[in-house]
Amino acid sequence: MPLPKDFIWGVAGASYQVEGAWNEDGKGPSIWDTYTHSRQSPVRHHDTGDIACDHYHRVKEDVALLSEIGVKAYRFSISWSRVIPDGIGEVNPKGLAFYSDLVDELLAAGIEPMITLYHWDMPQGIFDRGGWMNPDIVSWFERYTKVIVDALSDRVKYWFTINEPQIFLGLGYYTGAHAPFLKMCDRDLLVMTKHVLLSHGTAVKVIRENAKTAPKIAYAPTGPTFIPDNDSEEAIEKARAKSFAFDGDGYLFSNSWWSDPIFLGRFPEGAKEFFGDDMPEFTKEEWDLISAPLDFYGCNIYTAMRDMKELAASDAKDGLVGEPITAINWAITPDVLYWSARFFYERYKVPVMITENGCANVDYVHLDGKVHDPQRIDFTTRYLRAFLKAGEDGIPLAGYIYWSFMDNFEWGIGYDARFGLVHVNYQTQKRTLKDSAYWYRDVIASNGESLWK
Ligand code: NOJ
Repeated sequence: MPLPKDFIWGVAGASYQVEGAWNEDGKGPSIWDTYTHSRQSPVRHHDTGDIACDHYHRVKEDVALLSEIGVKAYRFSISWSRVIPDGIGEVNPKGLAFYSDLVDELLAAGIEPMITLYHWDMPQGIFDRGGWMNPDIVSWFERYTKVIVDALSDRVKYWFTINEPQIFLGLGYYTGAHAPFLKMCDRDLLVMTKHVLLSHGTAVKVIRENAKTAPKIAYAPTGPTFIPDNDSEEAIEKARAKSFAFDGDGYLFSNSWWSDPIFLGRFPEGAKEFFGDDMPEFTKEEWDLISAPLDFYGCNIYTAMRDMKELAASDAKDGLVGEPITAINWAITPDVLYWSARFFYERYKVPVMITENGCANVDYVHLDGKVHDPQRIDFTTRYLRAFLKAGEDGIPLAGYIYWSFMDNFEWGIGYDARFGLVHVNYQTQKRTLKDSAYWYRDVIASNGESLWK
């Protein structure tokens, strides 16, 4: 079945991962600047995003590459501290101009800009005031959102409030692998959850009330999707239940901890019993704010979740022996896109957009000057076929955004992981389109038809 003509084929990136220029033109520091500079940073090789892909200085060149790939949309995030250096004070006109120019460049190239408001680089000034622990963050996020909406919504239609709360709280404040590298207790994580949810809801309200172009709004969570063991209804129900389970210890990383409040206006079953009096309380108005309707379900999905306890019980110990993995050991499980689309649509009842999916690979420039990455092409073909099968089964699909446009700073593992369709030489900043970029160009041009050839 052909895809709808307006199916969105895109690529994504995020401010701290690509921009560099960490202290230029009035930008204030973010927690990623501060803590990757610290002696205790656990980031591999002590890498930082100080320069990253130097995208800040190469916007025209980069938009030309997006154009060459033929993408219909570019999902990028805004660095809050580039626009409001301490997060709450004066607006930095140069910071705002950078994003405004980027939007203009994209539109001139016929590419839809999609903005993520919060992709993890919290202004240091906000963190110093308590960050997600401080209830005032909701009004600071509200004001930041208003500044961006006022400046860009005449040209921007697509908005994502927050990216992967599972990861920025889970790794940033629970396991300590991401900035600000903290390990905090449930009591505080629950306070932060409340403020993240309220910030999301408040941003949705600001966008709906102030956008100059009819907006499409979502957020971009991640979370564990389980694949059924076989086709039986029983196996499907088991996988579905596990994909939305509130499982105590792993709650921060789950789908239901975040998406049930946002789409269903309540926390998942079992949460209240588990946390008792620490459970955050919301007024009716707050629940209405948090669960205001969204236009689609964005999801960042890379690999299926396995129940390690069950695998161990069936003698399989550490996952499947010799199974295909990417360069950062994530299992290659294409059907996860089919089941994610199906399960999320069934539960949350809005069209599904894959806001991130992609493959870290061992990419380098070959003797012929090209970057051959057949693994990525094979990976993405399989994942896309599975996703489009969900469409054939009647699930409304809003789009597919490949992560990432270009190689970039992969958080805790620095620059070793290469996810891009475009190779970046970090010494020279030379960009080279990988084979997969040309392959994706054909997929887009044929609106997915070439995937079946
Ligand atoms: C999740 C994040 O949104 C993005 O920043 C990250 O680089 C990719 N997925 C790959 O891990």
